[in-house]
Amino acid sequence: MMKSINCGLLRKEHVGQSVTLAGWVHRRRDHGGLIFFDLRDRSGLVQVVFSADISEPAHKQAETVRPEFVVQVTGVVRSRPQGLINPNLDTGDIEVEVSELTILNAAKTPPFAINEETEVRDEVRLRYRYLDLRRQRMQKNLLLRHKITTFIRNYMDANDFVDIETPILLKSTPEGARDFVVPSRLHAGKFYALPQSPQQMKQLLMVAGFERYYQIARCFRDEDLRADRQLEFTQLDLEMSFAESDDVRALIEAMLIQLFEEVSDMKIRQKPFPVLTYQEAMDRFGIDRPDLRFGMELIDLTEAVRGSKFGVFANTAAAGGQIKALCAPGAASFSRKKIDQLTETVKARGAKGLVWLKTANDGLRSSIAKFLTEEEKDAIIDLTGAEEGDLILAVADKPAVVADALSALRTQLGAELRLIDPDELALCWVVDFPLLEWSEEESRWVAVHHPFTSAKPEQWPLLETDPGAVLANAYDVVCNGMEIGGGSIRIHDAEHQSLLFRALGISDEEAQEQFGHLLEAFSYGAPPHGGIALGLDRLVAILAREESIREVIAFPKTASATDLLLNSPSPISERQLQELHLKIAE
Ligand code: AMO
Repeated sequence: MMKSINCGLLRKEHVGQSVTLAGWVHRRRDHGGLIFFDLRDRSGLVQVVFSADISEPAHKQAETVRPEFVVQVTGVVRSRPQGLINPNLDTGDIEVEVSELTILNAAKTPPFAINEETEVRDEVRLRYRYLDLRRQRMQKNLLLRHKITTFIRNYMDANDFVDIETPILLKSTPEGARDFVVPSRLHAGKFYALPQSPQQMKQLLMVAGFERYYQIARCFRDEDLRADRQLEFTQLDLEMSFAESDDVRALIEAMLIQLFEEVSDMKIRQKPFPVLTYQEAMDRFGIDRPDLRFGMELIDLTEAVRGSKFGVFANTAAAGGQIKALCAPGAASFSRKKIDQLTETVKARGAKGLVWLKTANDGLRSSIAKFLTEEEKDAIIDLTGAEEGDLILAVADKPAVVADALSALRTQLGAELRLIDPDELALCWVVDFPLLEWSEEESRWVAVHHPFTSAKPEQWPLLETDPGAVLANAYDVVCNGMEIGGGSIRIHDAEHQSLLFRALGISDEEAQEQFGHLLEAFSYGAPPHGGIALGLDRLVAILAREESIREVIAFPKTASATDLLLNSPSPISERQLQELHLKIAE
């Protein structure tokens, strides 16, 4: 190797030794007679010193060096003089007195400072991602990601799971998100699709008798990008035969607890993880991925205000809608302007308005005070548990709008009122999802999870009479308000699978064409099976305390789905188009 030790490992015990280091010049200070570099490699920084007394040529050459030059130095480790010790640096007790300097490569001035955690525009960071990745934050994040995947691989191996790769060139299917497709050169007019997940392949591996499969798998979905979504992302994907929902959940819960203890100093709020039904999550938090780091639950006021003189309440209740509220602790001091901002939040989610009630020492003040009777006021205070100084915020609308509006409001207020402990991990399972939901757009039932998810056994008969009421044998794992994983027990016989396809409006013919392989496989002795996939990027982002999964992916896409480093997507040549039997329509 071109170095005898890593920069960040040098300590007092090395004093007196001659070492050779190689790395990047992180900082350079020229004090005339003495020139200092902070030399950086992956392990950290160490200070190296040049003086003409030790080596005139090295000192002279050091004058020409600039930040990010790649250099090799040889010298002797010595203690720093008293008073010059840097307690903030692991190597702060020592420095290296350089006798020999080799410039391995020069560097242009980078477009942003590598040695400071300054704010740099995302476009610039992604355009020069290889420089951005040199910075401490990104080095830390990707090393954490490596630790997490290493832990997962060991855990899965210890639990008897077999790592099996599945194809990237797969087949387009109509269910799920939009596919990325790949035109075939050999088969004109035909396309492969990139996997949205290895779902069908892992089920076929169960039919094949592997019993426990896992893969750290890349998935591709042509969706709109968000902070927690990329076009390609990574799952810890697994499937187990002869397992029930509890078995899959126990395995993942134990893995997450061990993982968090091993790689993070964040604390798990509650063990074992609480289990909420979908209905309970919607009732209490208005969302199926509740942030359980704080309370401020949604409270149903419908019955208390059903007879109200306030028309919006009375009419909403009469029309089968809901009036729900949350109680923001200590927020009675919010200004008119602030409340207007909160009103905007709920309006953006389709609510018509936001009713506020403040509990002051002289009673209740409210935007609708004159309409409320004393009993109604008492009931509202009673139900919300509001104390002096609190702010009650209520929305009246269809249940779906109320849930969406108040959950958004709850998230916003949780952050603004600092109700969240940033060192906490609040995990929970959400179970008993509906199997199907009605799609207005397509005028048909669609699978909430995916069309291979089984109904709870006793629920199958409902599929024909009341499809929307059927509960799925599915589960999500949620952390700090983010869905970090989802899975289910699958259908493992052709009969139920066909039944579900029919409920989804997929004809027997279409089912044969699209999923014939699966139906056929099920007829050759498919074991009962189920599994789950964890969003690895999301998991790493939470543990790295990053808002966006982009910060834990080496080469992510921008919010507008481009790669600024490679400049993709990009056109292809006329010849390639011809080979692929493609024409670009204007
Ligand atoms: P699902 O679609 O719920 O399930 O995906 C599992 C987990 O993957 C993560 N995830 C994403 N992460 C980043 N960017 C995206 N675009 C993205 N989409 C999903 C989420 C999610 O919980 N085959 C099933 C799993 C199963 O049933 O076993 C599946 O893919 O954290």
